[in-house]
Amino acid sequence: MSRIVYVLNGPNLNLLGKRQPEIYGRETLADVEAACRAAAKELGLTIEFRQSNREYELIEWIHEARERAAAIVINPAAYTHTSVAILDALSAFDGPIIEVHLSNIHKREPFRHRSFVSGVASGVLAGFGVQGYGLALQRVARLLADKPA
Ligand code: DQA
Repeated sequence: MSRIVYVLNGPNLNLLGKRQPEIYGRETLADVEAACRAAAKELGLTIEFRQSNREYELIEWIHEARERAAAIVINPAAYTHTSVAILDALSAFDGPIIEVHLSNIHKREPFRHRSFVSGVASGVLAGFGVQGYGLALQRVARLLADKPA
């Protein structure tokens, strides 16, 4: 069975560390990738780590994941709150989907409280900072292990 996990990051996350550090912290996207690679190694998972500012590209990657990946970890960033297209793409993916947000979106502006993605996610992590990605991968490993062959 595939142990490939797509870790997808949405718009503006390339600016992590520089962008509103009081909300998102000082760690960069490269730090997030390093944390994911370390967690994946520990868990025996292989990751495809990607970021895009384009909705189209994220959708293409979700389609690609249908063919290649056992699970998806996604921080859709602002598209969380706007994108029916990303919801639809994720709905066509068969394996576990974990939604991650660095910040606690429920503590923030009301428009961030709604997530289109949560309706198709196996689980949601918000407010755990970079650690949330590692926790998401731990959960993926558990869900894949529990999956009947
Ligand atoms: C975010 C939260 C979103 O509301 C925001 O648009 C982001 C990042 C987070 O990781 O906390 O860009 O997904």
